[in-house]
Amino acid sequence: MPSLEERLAEKIDQRKINNALRQLHGQSVGIDFCSNDYLGLAKSPEIHQEILKLSDPVKTLGSTGSRLISGDSSQYQSIEEYLSNFHKGEAALIFNSGYDANVGFFSTIPQRGDIILYDELCHASIRDGIRLSLAKGYSFSHNDLSQLRLKLEQFSGNIFVAIESIYSMDGDNAPIEKSVVLCEEFGAHLIVDEAHSTGIYGKHGEGVVVSLGLEAKIFARLHTFGKAMGAHGAVWIGSAILKEYLINYCRSFIYTTALAAYSIAHIQSAYTFLSDNPQRIESLHNQIQWFKKVVAENRIMGFIPSDSTIQSCIVSGNGNVKVVTSHLQENGFDVRPILHPTVAEGRERIRICLHAYNSDDEISQLVHTLKMGLAKIS
Ligand SMILES: Cc1ncc(COP(=O)(O)O)c(C=O)c1O
Repeated sequence: MPSLEERLAEKIDQRKINNALRQLHGQSVGIDFCSNDYLGLAKSPEIHQEILKLSDPVKTLGSTGSRLISGDSSQYQSIEEYLSNFHKGEAALIFNSGYDANVGFFSTIPQRGDIILYDELCHASIRDGIRLSLAKGYSFSHNDLSQLRLKLEQFSGNIFVAIESIYSMDGDNAPIEKSVVLCEEFGAHLIVDEAHSTGIYGKHGEGVVVSLGLEAKIFARLHTFGKAMGAHGAVWIGSAILKEYLINYCRSFIYTTALAAYSIAHIQSAYTFLSDNPQRIESLHNQIQWFKKVVAENRIMGFIPSDSTIQSCIVSGNGNVKVVTSHLQENGFDVRPILHPTVAEGRERIRICLHAYNSDDEISQLVHTLKMGLAKIS
């Protein structure tokens, strides 16, 4: 019988054989076309200064315990009130990350006998939460409302439907308005993960749901702080009873050390900065339009249609996508290949993330270099 070490090594070798080994790279180099810092807030000196002003010097370094023991603070309470107002919900509850928030929510709120229907492209954290849940989960084809309807017809009782306003790997958007109508018809509870739209849609970055005026129709919305907000953590926006239930039953909320005061000050400073500087959001959307224009002019095929910061060019096969990515990296662009098994086989891709701070020239150069890289494998 192989030893444990041998078993682990065999699995790692399998990844090497499939050209899919995951490795840590240390400091990023090159022009940033891969980070989630869409608005450049993670690098903002103004936000840094503001954090130092807001941080409670006594509790800055460590929160000292879980929220239910010693980690809570008036800062926490006031930012949650701020976030519920900002995102136009009744109540807000902060989690240490979007991953914790999704795993906690989906493993806690749907109960035994309930049904969770989720888009097949939903994030791993949603799917991991569903795996832990006592409810039964079924996926439906990406953005396929007729398939969702068929599944809604099949089940009764409490049904939850999980979608993302912007999908993290494809960058396309969910049909939220139609999903709301469908869920209302069947009395299903709609949950929207706004990880990649927080800070980017709505006048001040309130998210897609608020920009559509649909906040009252959604059971719960997730906003994360680690992407456009340039910070860390996440918040569920929903009813006061949902918040109280999560505080009482959600294990990824209860059994973990709370964020430190510094992190709370960071979240507050990022939201205040964005409210005072909405032109950042406009610049980002201008850069997205510029990128799409240059791609169209260069007739590059393979991009998944998207109006978001995430622009994915399908390059089938782990080997092929690595060749094109290396060409871009050698020419000074920080882009990363997205390989199978992270995405389905044949749907490997170069995932380009656009930022407010990417210049027109950088974007044009990136697209030209991509075109040359693609020529290497054709
Ligand atoms: C759609 C979606 N939900 C949740 C998460 C997890 O958020 P966090 O990075 O804060 O754990 C991510 C980030 O990768 C995401 O893309």
